[in-house]
Amino acid sequence: MFQKEIYISRREELKRLVGSGLIIVMGNSESPMSYSDNCYNFIQDSTFLYYFGLNSPDLIGLIDVKKNKSYIFGKEFTIDDIIWMGKQQKFKDKSLEVGVENFLDIEELKLVVDSAKVENRKIHFTNQYRLENSYKLSKILDLSLEDISTQFSEKLVQSIIDMRSIKSEIEILEMEAATNITRDMHLVAMKNIKSGMKAFELVALLESAAKKMNATMSFHTICTKNSAVLHNHDHSNVFKDGDLVLLDCGAKLESGYCGDMTTVFPVSGEFDSRQKDLYSLLIEMFDKAEECTKPGVKNKSVHLEVARVLTRGLVERGFMSGDIESIVKAGAYALFFPHGLGHMIGLDVHDLENFGENRVGYDSETIRENQFGIRSLRMGKELKKGHVLTIEPGIYFIPELIEKWESSGLFREFINYEKVKEYSDFGGLRYEGDFLITEDSNRRLGYKMPKYADEVEKIMKK
Ligand code: GLY
Ligand code: MN
Ligand code: MN
Repeated sequence: MFQKEIYISRREELKRLVGSGLIIVMGNSESPMSYSDNCYNFIQDSTFLYYFGLNSPDLIGLIDVKKNKSYIFGKEFTIDDIIWMGKQQKFKDKSLEVGVENFLDIEELKLVVDSAKVENRKIHFTNQYRLENSYKLSKILDLSLEDISTQFSEKLVQSIIDMRSIKSEIEILEMEAATNITRDMHLVAMKNIKSGMKAFELVALLESAAKKMNATMSFHTICTKNSAVLHNHDHSNVFKDGDLVLLDCGAKLESGYCGDMTTVFPVSGEFDSRQKDLYSLLIEMFDKAEECTKPGVKNKSVHLEVARVLTRGLVERGFMSGDIESIVKAGAYALFFPHGLGHMIGLDVHDLENFGENRVGYDSETIRENQFGIRSLRMGKELKKGHVLTIEPGIYFIPELIEKWESSGLFREFINYEKVKEYSDFGGLRYEGDFLITEDSNRRLGYKMPKYADEVEKIMKK
């Protein structure tokens, strides 16, 4: 938790942006795995965490813009709770620590809302991603679930996105810490992989590097040699010399901030010539993205610059032929790079995407494309100082996709399918880092990570 002044000033700014009415911010509840007392790890709603700081279930925040008052609604612990959970700090006192002087019983929320309704005041709430919170809101506001999904406040949502998208200095420190733990997870994996090891054994080692630092996972760890599958969560395969490991994982700090990093490394400790060659193209793509990523530039154009580097590299290697610009314009490169270059990151690994990808990554100046490949780009809009986003180019040989495109005769003028099929067992490559947009450029968060093939091999030798 940060100092209370941080939360007070964030709520002040939100009040200023929204301008009038009441603002309701739903905290999350516990989510049962198999019965009500056996729950998944509790994850607080990131917007609640951002404005109200408390990392406990069943709380709802409210800001009364005109009366200039903030409330947290919940239930104080009873003796029954304390028997099971031990002595607890009162929510009244916890609320004071985030600058909220009004902690009230949850039953009182409806009274506050009802009296605002009598006065015809606007009640702002966000679009919800948990049915349980939609249900609670429908009871509080006397609206149907359908109304809750359509009558949310665009103004509130946009204000939250605008504020949370620009990371402050204390947030950047947290993100730097999350990135460094994420880096440790990767280094542990690189240093411990050996032939015969099962993926789940490696996952146990690398996740313990995060757990030792009191971090959890930002998302399910991807650790696989079947790396042509973009999000492969299976951990059952056995690594052998000659295989590449694709590891995409991230640490989430207790404060909520996330890291997200991908590396590819050879089980044997040395890339073979085919792997090294395509890996060098991958890093060329990454370096180009790093060079282009700066304020005032649209991330969509960075994605396209990276696509040009990929296309040139594929033409030089005989996988494609033709004019680079025509190939990029047609989207034929997406056979090898079917996802976007990156996404915002912060309290959520795909930051703010609960509000809708297009609201976060696009605006009236930047429209999302429909074309296969670039349509998966989550962050397309102009970059601004304070944004933190991932750069994560990839090169994949996805047998099912290759077969589908070839059998439907797609882009035969550009793609040399015979050559491509020689690589149908190659798998995929992705390299990912987290970047802060600075005054006139960018800065990769965290200590230096091995990036070029010789740097990866050097770390693995140690
Ligand atoms: N780890 C998921 C992603 O990179 O977007
Ligand atoms: Mn990512
Ligand atoms: Mn990732």
